[in-house]
Amino acid sequence: MYERLIPVELTYYLKLGDAVVITDENLIILDVNNQYKNITGYKKETIIGSPAKFLNSNMKPILYKSLRSVLSNGKSWSGVMVDIKNSPGFWYSFITITPIKINEQIYYVGITRSAEQLVVEDNYRRKEEQKELFKVLAISSEIRDTGIVDHLLNVQKLTEKFLLTLTEEKIYSLSVKYIDKIIQYSILHDIGKSGIPESILYKPGPLTFYERKIIEMHPLIGVEVLHKISDGMNYNIFNDIEIASNIIKYHHEKWDGTGYPEGLKGEDIPFEARVIAIVDVFEALVSKRSYKKPWSKKDALSYLKEQKGIQFDPFLVDAFIERVIDLSK
Ligand SMILES: [Fe+2]
Repeated sequence: MYERLIPVELTYYLKLGDAVVITDENLIILDVNNQYKNITGYKKETIIGSPAKFLNSNMKPILYKSLRSVLSNGKSWSGVMVDIKNSPGFWYSFITITPIKINEQIYYVGITRSAEQLVVEDNYRRKEEQKELFKVLAISSEIRDTGIVDHLLNVQKLTEKFLLTLTEEKIYSLSVKYIDKIIQYSILHDIGKSGIPESILYKPGPLTFYERKIIEMHPLIGVEVLHKISDGMNYNIFNDIEIASNIIKYHHEKWDGTGYPEGLKGEDIPFEARVIAIVDVFEALVSKRSYKKPWSKKDALSYLKEQKGIQFDPFLVDAFIERVIDLSK
């Protein structure tokens, strides 16, 4: 059996509840955890020492097209595997691969997470309204967080109020169609969390550097999910996919360029993402979470004000603070 010791830091990944595979820089598998072994159905002795691509038989090779080039640039890669053979509808699972350099050696850590909750059956798709479908998709990405349904719906409601205020008060001239799309897609902003290991997403203590890096992949994973869902649908469900994609990809960008995933600055951040960034943070602050008490609206608005021109678009955040949130209610 092929054996090569992996650095101790990497062994922590093997303790995750999700299926994890670790390879060397040539994508030769160095170790996997039991979950990975169970999912692939191979014995550990067979997997270790094999090139990662030997598993292509049950992972669609087309999804790996961009893998090599992205990883060779030192970036993370994430993709969605779609299996249409064994179940009705589609079965999605996600893999994120992060290059990690330790003692001048590059290792790749791949974390997979199955997402059966995204199974969307044919009949259901046709009957239900798009809105309901988006809600299900959005909620399924964080299914274990009971407060998430309210958070997502509140983000959507507040986005609507914000955008209507901006147009009614003639602060911005936005078309009804555009506003409508932003409202519809706002609920999907965190859909990429479906690709983040739950052990990290719901970790009670502080996150390590690498765990934070993994969480910060959710906007990019979200865009992959969006495209895979869109491609898998028989009809054109996202007729303005760019708006949805901008919201999902850029809602953690910051006005001063210190956000992620791309570090976009100022008006380079799409308008719809700047709007959702404000609403998402405000709503998260005033909500009760398992790890925190709800902030008062006043405190949340003070935070937004502090972050004016740093995290948030100064013009938009002023409008939000002054005209959207009613402190008397
Ligand atoms: Fe997010």
